[in-house]
Amino acid sequence: MPNTVLVGAQWGDEGKGKIIDVLTAEADVVVRYQGGNNAGHTVKVGEEKYVLHLVPSGILRDGKICVLGNGVVIDPAALLQEIDELKERKIKVDDRLFVSDRAHVVFPYHRALDESREAKLSKGEKIGTTKRGIGPSYGEKAARTGLRIGDMVADGFEEKLRSRIKEKNKVLIALESEPLDEESVVADYMAAADRIAPFVSDTLTLLNQAMKDGRSILFEGAQGTMLDIDYGTYPFVTSSNSTAGGACTGTGIAPNKIDRIVAVVKAYTTRVGEGPFPTELLDDSGKMLASRGHEFGATTGRPRRCGWFDAVVARYSAMINGVDYWAITKLDVLDEFESIKICTAYECDGKTYETVPANISVLERCKPVYEEMKGWQTDTSEISNYDDLPTEAKEYVARLLELLGGSLGILSVGPKRESTLRINL
Ligand code: GDP
Ligand code: IMO
Ligand code: MG
Repeated sequence: MPNTVLVGAQWGDEGKGKIIDVLTAEADVVVRYQGGNNAGHTVKVGEEKYVLHLVPSGILRDGKICVLGNGVVIDPAALLQEIDELKERKIKVDDRLFVSDRAHVVFPYHRALDESREAKLSKGEKIGTTKRGIGPSYGEKAARTGLRIGDMVADGFEEKLRSRIKEKNKVLIALESEPLDEESVVADYMAAADRIAPFVSDTLTLLNQAMKDGRSILFEGAQGTMLDIDYGTYPFVTSSNSTAGGACTGTGIAPNKIDRIVAVVKAYTTRVGEGPFPTELLDDSGKMLASRGHEFGATTGRPRRCGWFDAVVARYSAMINGVDYWAITKLDVLDEFESIKICTAYECDGKTYETVPANISVLERCKPVYEEMKGWQTDTSEISNYDDLPTEAKEYVARLLELLGGSLGILSVGPKRESTLRINL
């Protein structure tokens, strides 16, 4: 398989986990390059359901190598719990999972700060984070005060950790939050360091060597383009580059080694957490999308906000990520609608926008310009051949591709591996 970057093209939860699982069958190595356990990637294998937060979804296919790249932030307790749960379910993890020594660590003070800062924000200001400490951990990375996985397993870790806990406790007290118990945090992290040590490696060399040996790499994006720290709806974003460029900076693989980009979009749109969402539906159609799509966060269980497909967002994603192939998921969720809308542009203050405006206060006021298509009102969830889709469903997909450009790689009509129509990929 060519080296493939897979990204989410909307606000996350597009079904990346499912598509990664399908593509892993043809890859040798699967690598996460950004984000942390704010992600929740669901994979259904037969009747078994797995939700992966840190470990690449590739772990579910025997023999594949899985890597947590340098761009990921790692909460050791969360990682160890995930490893334990996988092992309990008879998934082999040892000698298959490699964790970058350059990846930054998430500490309890990051989680506490995440929570405390969110609690202090007023209603319109809250980001609605997953409270996993992602923002504060990346913040420390940029401020050059963070600790990396390599530090955790090296001499001197205890002193470095103690000095940071002391400093962060002063901040937490100033924010009127509970300070952390230094001894218990140190004990937990020293124990975690021992357990994580066997997984730690120089993943830059490992990945580049794998490529030299002719192995193919699948880059598992987390979150989505509209949550990217630079290109998303800032400040209502996550703290990493979830767009395709992040695949290089987050792994140490050069841009000219990437062969193709696959972007995943739902056939409609969802968002979990706060921030602008032009096509959001607060009516019965929105409720129907939520209930047919089981739209609850895979990490926090929060209900996801739902709306019609936003081609402005998807086109913007196509431009930033350089999308070669689209994987369109959850087409089956639209099966019962009499008519379906697609947003093709925004209007604000008498001006038409064909792309996403940077100014958040403009985006918040943008009204979608819709075109309407006839629904197919037929069950598509058992269809395994593109030609067997109802005409209106084919027309809907064709219209999306016309608006987005690029080619249709995969069409997904259900959560299981079998509910996957391979088109050009
Ligand atoms: P990710 O974060 O992008 O991996 O997506 P999530 O796992 O958070 O959310 C996607 C949800 O949709 C999961 O529950 C998947 O099992 C489910 N899913 C994926 N593809 C399809 C599909 O084509 N149809 C339906 N009905 N569900 C799907
Ligand atoms: P996957 O990989 C959907 C959202 C949060 C919040 C914002 C910032 O499953 O698609 P953070 O905890 O990252 O500081 O929260 O980003 N968010 C996600 N939304 N899917 C995700 O991951 C997300 N990861 C973070 O809800 O709005
Ligand atoms: Mg998810």
